[in-house]
Amino acid sequence: MDQYETMMKLKKPFIQRYPIPLPIIYTGKNARRIVVDILEKHNVHSVFIMQVASLRKQGYLDDLYKQLERRNIHYHLFEESFHDPDTEIINRMVQEYGDAEAIVVIGGGSKMDAAKVLAGCISTGKKAEQLFGTMKVIRKVPLLIAIPTTAGTGSEATVAAVISDTKTHKKRQVLDSALVPNYAILDPELTENLSNELTVQTAMDALTHALEAYVSTYATAFTDKCALKAIKMIHEYLPLVMKNPHDLIERNYLLQASTLAGVALTRAFVGYVHAFAHEIGARYGISHGLCVGVILPYVMEDYREVATDKLAQLSLLLKLGDEEDSDALLAKKYIDYLNDFIEKVGMPKHLKELQEVDYKDIIEASFKECHGNYPVPYMYDKERALNLLKRIKGRDE
Ligand SMILES: [Fe+2]
Repeated sequence: MDQYETMMKLKKPFIQRYPIPLPIIYTGKNARRIVVDILEKHNVHSVFIMQVASLRKQGYLDDLYKQLERRNIHYHLFEESFHDPDTEIINRMVQEYGDAEAIVVIGGGSKMDAAKVLAGCISTGKKAEQLFGTMKVIRKVPLLIAIPTTAGTGSEATVAAVISDTKTHKKRQVLDSALVPNYAILDPELTENLSNELTVQTAMDALTHALEAYVSTYATAFTDKCALKAIKMIHEYLPLVMKNPHDLIERNYLLQASTLAGVALTRAFVGYVHAFAHEIGARYGISHGLCVGVILPYVMEDYREVATDKLAQLSLLLKLGDEEDSDALLAKKYIDYLNDFIEKVGMPKHLKELQEVDYKDIIEASFKECHGNYPVPYMYDKERALNLLKRIKGRDE
């Protein structure tokens, strides 16, 4: 057995038993109104709010400010825009945090990740760069309320935060169960103005989280339940949201799916799709959602013969076949369905940006991220990985 497979096997019982908290979830139109009640319940008198400026400008948060003022809760707004949070921004937030007693973050994955690291810095008194790695926080962090504005990363339910090191420009992870937000507020109104393109790309990220967690060798009955629910909801509601972008009930299902996918991934991890997407995305400047969405079906095809029974179950759940079909046929039916789905939602089939000259480095970096860390059902060797990259790139016309 490969040394990495042995390592993953040894870690499995520890990881599967490790207690990870779940956020308390409020969901539905105007769910954000509950925020002030939560702050009052926790006796918070001063709150640090990280938010997206456009939501304030569009008036979505007016009610929140009014309620905070009415109940004498002091608030400090931080709405500096950034795509990737880095240590410098977080250390600046620490300076502005003052005597706040809680953090409310209204934003996408990068904002939520920054808020989680800020919470870690506040509770430990350490700088952001001192929290890179696993279990560097441990102690209780300030009350953290996450309100996602995209249905994608699931960061509102995970132990992880990704930030860039300002000195090295490398992305680093901060992993700690203390960083799971206390509350996740899923308010579809805050996602209704997302373009179809962004809605699709973020949903593809959530679908990938759910599928990679589902086929993971660390999956449990609990993670499977969350992942299956998420997969089914994304397949059902993403095409509907694309047709009716302002239907808040359908948007809410996508939000719920991404949170459930986050719950699954933080316990059962991701796999090769993410390992390759991180490397390819950073190298060619391609968004995370687009990368994972294109790579996903190729990796799932490679998993077909090792995760056959699980893919067959998924096929039955989606009513793509019936009990009489063999597992192999059912698994194939799901892969075919996934390929059609990805085409239907307008994702490209290939990443033409890939350059053959980079293949060796991409494979090395992706293996380094994945092997010994992600419990994948199938281990690529260099030859198979090369074949994967060739299929992702497609033929030059
Ligand atoms: Fe992701």
